[in-house]
Amino acid sequence: MIIQLGEVPWLIVSSSDMACAIMRTHDSIFASRPSIVVTDIIRFEDVAFEPYGEDWRQLKRIFTTHLMSNKMVGSYKTVREGEINTLVRKISNHASLSNGGPIDLTSPFFSFMTSLICRVVCGKFVLEEGRYHAFREMVEETFRLASRFSIGDLFPSMPWMETLIGLSRRANRNREKWDRLLHEVIRVHIQRGESDRCQEISFVDMLLSLRNDATINVELTTDRIKGLVGDAFAAGIDTTYITLDWAMSELLRNPKEMKKLQEEVRGIVKHNNMVTSEELTKMYYLRAVIKETLRLHPPLPLLLPRESMEECEINGFTIPKGTKVIINAWAIGREAKSWEAAEEFMPERFINSQVEYKGNSFHLIPFGAGRRICPGIAFATATSELVLANLVHHFDWELPEGMTTDEFDMSESPGMSVHRKDRLRLVVKHVLASN
Ligand code: HEM
Repeated sequence: MIIQLGEVPWLIVSSSDMACAIMRTHDSIFASRPSIVVTDIIRFEDVAFEPYGEDWRQLKRIFTTHLMSNKMVGSYKTVREGEINTLVRKISNHASLSNGGPIDLTSPFFSFMTSLICRVVCGKFVLEEGRYHAFREMVEETFRLASRFSIGDLFPSMPWMETLIGLSRRANRNREKWDRLLHEVIRVHIQRGESDRCQEISFVDMLLSLRNDATINVELTTDRIKGLVGDAFAAGIDTTYITLDWAMSELLRNPKEMKKLQEEVRGIVKHNNMVTSEELTKMYYLRAVIKETLRLHPPLPLLLPRESMEECEINGFTIPKGTKVIINAWAIGREAKSWEAAEEFMPERFINSQVEYKGNSFHLIPFGAGRRICPGIAFATATSELVLANLVHHFDWELPEGMTTDEFDMSESPGMSVHRKDRLRLVVKHVLASN
């Protein structure tokens, strides 16, 4: 389907066959990103919005092999477990003090993810200097801005309209703030040097050390370090905490599935203990719950936009060079021909199934596919599985008093990343004492 947004035509892909044609058969043609007013202003030299080319390839390689490799994701284990411990304590405290009143889980989920990404990216620096709140505000504003088309995207032939009523001014202010903050993070890391590094190696430490690595084929300028760090904030926080929010929402609407998950987790983990990363490997139903959540509620339902670098022909249609493409992962996850009872939350469908979300099953593409696939899959799944396992292990959950599962509103809010419209307010019924 082609839709015209202002002066610009967009190709919308809503079937798994076409997604496969774009992201596998013709991936080399569709691996670029279009220019978008707000992201062009805000971003540094990053991975997520960089057009396809040698610089992008080298930066993506750094992201995949040095920052988000399985080894690095494993090395963030202590930080991840520590932050989850804090989250569990927060909920425990609420449960003890609230007298059965509901807790708003959306806000702790967001704080948890912001804190985790801050620690992983900047190390202890953020906590010591108390800059966590600055990052939090900037991430929120960046997402507000990136979720909107600016007038310049719709009418590129009239740049004066953008200057007059577009979002450029707000985007410029946001960029200046990011610039100052990231500059300070890098300055302090350089000043502290190797000798003063704590045990956990952060993204910034890693990137600074790679500047002297002969195997890196791109100069790691300050702007590029800012770009890679900015990607982790922009791409990692919202997406992962939204997944947790939707997973808990679906489990509350589907008590049988919640019970099954609790039985699995509580059968594996000793009474009062925190669930550990090692124990996750035995939790098949938990993995199925996360997959099913991402099928029904991909946090970036339209992935990130792409642009064709050459003219090509697909299924008899000629797609001109420079066509902007949106892939509707949300519709594909509910496609009747691929999914039985597509609208139902049925994690069982993934037990003993080969379907995965690493870019080979084109009817399940919450992380995209092909050259542009998300490099944060291992980190995102390790995090969301561990949080969810701990939440259902330590607590029993119910909807607020008087609300039935049918009344629980699953409406979505509009935006580039799609949240539940309402905040997630639940009652914590039973609490195991956390360590
Ligand atoms: C549940 C969590 C997450 C979801 C659902 C998600 C989803 C996505 C999607 C749909 C894309 C675009 C793929 C495409 O164009 O085909 C993407 C790209 C990206 N994601 Fe994620 N993501 C998640 C977590 C993360 C995390 C934790 C990080 C890093 C800390 C990350 C870093 C990136 C980067 C750098 C890109 C750009 C890749 C490129 O353009 O080559 N993501 N992600």
